[in-house]
Amino acid sequence: MLNKKRILIINGPNINMLKSRDSIHYGIKSLEDIQDICLNKAKELSVDVDFFQSNSEGDIVSKIQSAINKYNGVIINPAAYTHYSIAIRDALEILDIPIIEVHLSNIHKREEFRHKSVTVPVCNGQICGLGYIGYVLAIEALCNGIME
Ligand code: DQA
Repeated sequence: MLNKKRILIINGPNINMLKSRDSIHYGIKSLEDIQDICLNKAKELSVDVDFFQSNSEGDIVSKIQSAINKYNGVIINPAAYTHYSIAIRDALEILDIPIIEVHLSNIHKREEFRHKSVTVPVCNGQICGLGYIGYVLAIEALCNGIME
């Protein structure tokens, strides 16, 4: 039997608090709900997904480093770090596997400080503004060709 592909889904600060955040931007699902939906999609597509959430920049950097040679693709919502973490950007740049940046909200339609992503230039692409569906589409994109 062929080895299953593995995808790592990383979420940054405050994504563990979605239920207490503004549902206009982030929807009504909790991180756990989103993870369950992703697990179902992964099962359907016969891939393994692992989840990691942290409020700490250094922990996210370490997790990205530990993904080297372990995963076939990464989906990341760096949350607020999107807009200024050069450390997360540099860690992502080291990975030689496809990376998709996901945002629940449309960051380009919000405050100006959210328009810039310092991390997306080292990703294959970005999905934003589609709520939790963005994670599902990212899994599909990784499975439909862009993952080795
Ligand atoms: C977010 C958008 C960021 O600007 C914000 O800081 C977040 C969540 C999103 O998923 O829409 O925490 O990444």
